[in-house]
Amino acid sequence: MPASGGWLTATLEEAPIVPSTWHYGLVAQWWAEFNSGGPEVDYFRRYVEAGQPALDAGCGTGRLLLPYLRAGLDVDGCDVSPDMLAYCREAAAREGLSPNLYAQAMHELDLPRRYRTIFVCGALGLGSSREQDAEALRRLHEHLEPGGTLVVDNEAPYADPWLWQHWLKEKRAELPRPRRVPEPDERRRAADGSELALQGRLLDLDPLAQLATREMRAFRWRDGELVEEEEHLLTTVLYFKDEIVLMLERAGFADVTVLGQYNDRPPTPDDDFLVFVATKR
Ligand SMILES: C[S@@+](CC[C@H](N)C(=O)[O-])C[C@H]1O[C@@H](n2cnc3c(N)ncnc32)[C@H](O)[C@@H]1O
Repeated sequence: MPASGGWLTATLEEAPIVPSTWHYGLVAQWWAEFNSGGPEVDYFRRYVEAGQPALDAGCGTGRLLLPYLRAGLDVDGCDVSPDMLAYCREAAAREGLSPNLYAQAMHELDLPRRYRTIFVCGALGLGSSREQDAEALRRLHEHLEPGGTLVVDNEAPYADPWLWQHWLKEKRAELPRPRRVPEPDERRRAADGSELALQGRLLDLDPLAQLATREMRAFRWRDGELVEEEEHLLTTVLYFKDEIVLMLERAGFADVTVLGQYNDRPPTPDDDFLVFVATKR
């Protein structure tokens, strides 16, 4: 990738929007270095403990998968990004673990195994179209054993107040948002001693398609000198609760239940994330 942003700015902003995810290159490294823990780890673990084998669909660098493997649970992983999987594989190997990891998009999922549990944490609607998400849910249904459970979380479209205001015409007129140079205090030191920073901005929000398009610039400095710069796009389909319920039912799931943010309570308007639990008959 060229280090100068000008040429890429033009292409990213003018190119037709195609479903993309930004979990490659330096962004993948950032995930591997800095994204660990969180309430999702214990939350999804209970479903995996209740039904194995399990599949972590959109497993990324293994934030959930690695602790589960460490605990002796039988979990495979898949992700569209070979870069994310490479970091996951390396981290697993450092602990003497060798999980089955597959570089496949969910809507193209075709795995040799069938699962008692499939969970999707933070991946529905990312880098895919609405049609691809519908197909992804059909494929996930196909990959479950009869009686198996799918657990999917989804951030409510209104959870992020800053993003939510850009559904309005007046705020959409301000898009794409201008670039901002990352401040030195936004840099974080990676294990190899280099410093990384990410800089995101919103390029477009289409309320008709319920589609947000963001750009992510990723930077690496060594000894104070900028040595790498990348740009990636992330598209996100912003789903409301009942759309996902209908999509799950259309994909063949039964007994679709919606729960609050990583708890076992009914959802409330204050839950930023909702969890959908569905069964294959
Ligand atoms: C926000 S990260 C979450 C990773 C992991 N589930 C976690 O919670 O730490 C989203 C992951 O979904 C993957 N992803 C995005 N779109 C995908 C798709 N259509 N099929 C499979 N994986 C996808 C990305 O590559 C990325 O690793």
